[in-house]
Amino acid sequence: MTVTTTLDPIGTEDIAPGEAVQVQAAGLTLAVFRVGDEFYVTDDQCTHGPGLLHEGCLTGYEIECDFHQGSFNIRTGEVIEPPCTVALRVYPVTLRDGRVMIDLPA
Ligand code: FES
Repeated sequence: MTVTTTLDPIGTEDIAPGEAVQVQAAGLTLAVFRVGDEFYVTDDQCTHGPGLLHEGCLTGYEIECDFHQGSFNIRTGEVIEPPCTVALRVYPVTLRDGRVMIDLPA
């Protein structure tokens, strides 16, 4: 059985569709993205350098870092465009009572 810690950092209405916000939780700096009524959470720090992904350009499920224009799939963390080469960490999300709940391995 996998033990997880559930974080409850933000409400679903706190993010407009097509936007992203940064949240700090459990010592992590995360980006929470909203695509329609779907929510995705990744590390906010770009794996290529100093860019913060919540400040990037979100198009569908692709986030483009505004530092060097590398991009990632926010559903899987996979690199879409270089210069990024290392995948982004993604976190499982559950919506409950209007909150975006994030499951972390304990
Ligand atoms: S810091 Fe994000 S693409 Fe370089």
